Amino acid sequence: MTARTFYLLSRDARFRGYDSALALAECIVLTQGTREEERIVSSDRVGDISRAAFTAFGAEEIARAESLDDLREKVREAALDLPDFRIEVVKIPGRLRDNSLDIQRRIAEVMVSRPDLLNPKQRLVAIRTETLFRFGRIVTEASTDWGRPLDLPERCSRSIPDRIGRAMVNLAASPGDRILDPCCGAGTIPIQAMQVGIETDASDINFKMVGATNLNLARLGYPPCAEVADLRERKGRWDAVVTDLPYGWFGHEEEHRQVDDILDHLVTLAPRIVVATASPRHAAFEGGRFARVEAIPLPVSPRRSRYIHVAVEKPASKAPAL
Ligand SMILES: C[S@@+](CC[C@H](N)C(=O)[O-])C[C@H]1O[C@@H](n2cnc3c(N)ncnc32)[C@H](O)[C@@H]1O
Repeated sequence: MTARTFYLLSRDARFRGYDSALALAECIVLTQGTREEERIVSSDRVGDISRAAFTAFGAEEIARAESLDDLREKVREAALDLPDFRIEVVKIPGRLRDNSLDIQRRIAEVMVSRPDLLNPKQRLVAIRTETLFRFGRIVTEASTDWGRPLDLPERCSRSIPDRIGRAMVNLAASPGDRILDPCCGAGTIPIQAMQVGIETDASDINFKMVGATNLNLARLGYPPCAEVADLRERKGRWDAVVTDLPYGWFGHEEEHRQVDDILDHLVTLAPRIVVATASPRHAAFEGGRFARVEAIPLPVSPRRSRYIHVAVEKPASKAPAL
């Protein structure tokens, strides 16, 4: 039987509100798992979360129980030889009263092997939630390489945060895919994609933005990939389109029409579309072509949200045998 792996969704105060629905969607795509509880996803497989923006780690489950006493019994029975371990404790929510040191100490007491807090060879984790204790061995971790080097020269006022860009890329594509960002601005999405080995084409209607993307890529040692183009005139087929649309901030009718036109064209370019807009746009993905359409809200201020749409085309049906 395959061991269960539980994954912890990250929290980051700078991304208050960003890190719930988006984190969950990203983790489910990367691990094929399902949500168990707030900030916890579990799966019967070990997904590679090294490129994740909002998943901290995955831990192979050793034991779970409703009380610390029961957990200790299960850990004792498992008699696992995990030399030089260190136990980390996560409480969800953080205000739970249990004492983390006490949890560490009481689990360590029933382990067969000895801890090494300074140079651990095994990182173990105990997650305490309102209903359960989970205990496991960390087997996969995010590399958090989505952070932008501080000296990147170009940025535009509407640039999305790097971490959000990484999550958008992860929702649509995997290393080896080729994607298009046809509204690249200063290049957040192409940079995040290239950092994880996804080939990227990019364009923008504004030549200054094209220059900004290519300059940023060059600073990181990547080849230029951006060209000047109106996205409504782009032709071709990519594995995915990942983009952050410009219009719709003010809700004018003309702006809505432009977004409709743009989306009508975007959906012809790839079987997987991840697109951020200023309002939910389910209508663009209707008509039966897409198997799954989600609009993930992304609060950008107390009164305003962006929506990240994730649309995945239905698999092509097999031709009937002759
Ligand atoms: C929200 S910004 C993208 C920001 C970018 N994701 C970043 O992080 O820097 C939208 C971009 O779309 C571009 N744009 C607007 N209309 C366009 C069109 N019809 N075709 C291509 N690009 C367009 C704008 O010039 C702007 O750079």
